[in-house]
Amino acid sequence: MSKKSKHNISKNNTYVFPHFNPRLSPVPVRRFHFPEGFVFGASTSAYQIEGAIDTVAYGRGRSIWEDYFAARPHLDNGEVACDHYQRMVEDVAMIKKMGLKAYRFSVSWPRIIPAGTGAVNAQGLEFYSRLVDELLKNGIEPYLTLYHWDLPAAMQDLGGWTNRAVAEHFADYAKVVVERLGDRVKKWCTFNEPEVIVAGYIGDGLAPGLKNPALRVAVGHNLLLAHGLATKVLRQAGAALKSKSYEGDLEVGIVLNLVPAEPASATVSAKTAARRQWQRNYGWYMDGLFKGKYPRVVQLEARRTGVSISAADMELIRQPIDYLGINWYLRQVVTGRGRVIRVPGAKETLMGWEIHAPALTTMLLNMKSEYRQLPPLYITENGAALKDERTASGVHDLGRMTYTYDHISALEMASLQGVDIRGYFAWSLMDNLEWSLGYSKTFGLVHVDRETQVRTVKDTGLWYSAVIKANSRGKAASRKGSGRR
Ligand code: FCB
Repeated sequence: MSKKSKHNISKNNTYVFPHFNPRLSPVPVRRFHFPEGFVFGASTSAYQIEGAIDTVAYGRGRSIWEDYFAARPHLDNGEVACDHYQRMVEDVAMIKKMGLKAYRFSVSWPRIIPAGTGAVNAQGLEFYSRLVDELLKNGIEPYLTLYHWDLPAAMQDLGGWTNRAVAEHFADYAKVVVERLGDRVKKWCTFNEPEVIVAGYIGDGLAPGLKNPALRVAVGHNLLLAHGLATKVLRQAGAALKSKSYEGDLEVGIVLNLVPAEPASATVSAKTAARRQWQRNYGWYMDGLFKGKYPRVVQLEARRTGVSISAADMELIRQPIDYLGINWYLRQVVTGRGRVIRVPGAKETLMGWEIHAPALTTMLLNMKSEYRQLPPLYITENGAALKDERTASGVHDLGRMTYTYDHISALEMASLQGVDIRGYFAWSLMDNLEWSLGYSKTFGLVHVDRETQVRTVKDTGLWYSAVIKANSRGKAASRKGSGRR
């Protein structure tokens, strides 16, 4: 797909930042009405960008993704990805130049503890320590996720997330990471998207690909237990750091992917089916975390599939957290028979995901009224796989720019109606390995040439940069220079 770039590449010049005039922007560059301190950032995850998976050279253990791809050799894999492990310093320089105030990344468990438990790989810890230093040096706040899907293969040998013991090992891993980085990283996240981790057990599109629907509740529940155990560990580490007179005010959260289900018609059956769809797939994580009780439909499924859930489990799961991260991509529309349908004429991304930003506002308002214990929120991922047009002048992606503008505006609507939203992170900083879909689906603010690894900031990335700039000026700043549609 990608032709060789005309640009000469040196180790120190690995990104291209085309010129962009905000006055001529086809999509508004404006100030959004968010509270003071609202943060604009971008997200990535370890396996999708790092490369450097070789166990001998990097001391990293095998993850379930190497096994997944070994069994499917026709797919792209993460051997090289964005070569970020080698290019980290240049990537941080690019983030800085884009003006991003925050960067959300994940730490790879098998890079830190190759066998999942036991010996620590010093080289791996050192990598993330350097990344954090580099970010802080450049005024970018690190948002660290402990688990974005790359389970050590040795943990899968124990049954992976079907086994409660893995939750204990996860908490030990969290301890190793926080003891090294807790003096510098304030924003901690235990898990990225439990529902999608579960999808790897009940289907075959994601690792480990077990295709066993009966594991649904067992895996989801164990993930929430692991979240609870790790939260305790992080809090203890935070307290210990404080007593050593570090600024030990760690904030702990979790990231859920939430897909609201809207009824296809106003009938009672469609409304009931939509509610059920939400509770069964997404709402039960919310209920567990913020009500300490799963919805009935999930309790019944737990009983049917032999999962025992104690009151102590639910206490662990519902302990207070400092923020909830939401990854938002789409809504679903559900018929009275419980079928998810495509809305005729609706716009979709290349993933087949409907584009409908108003549903984000609605979902956030619903959450605010349903959950009294709701902590502050961040949108930790939002973005679209759409076509990019690469020319000599840059990488053009008007569809993504419009998508991003519409979603930030939808978030603004919710914020203006009293939802406590503290930040927005674009998925993704750069084009990367979209798991089993390989490099064919691109979500990046930045294009990555797969042959040369040269990064080119796309029009959306340039627009986003201009938005961040417009939103960082003091309140009295003029609005001149804002492009209008
Ligand atoms: C989210 C994942 C992220 C990426 C986007 C498109 O579910 O967290 O890694 O795959 O979807």
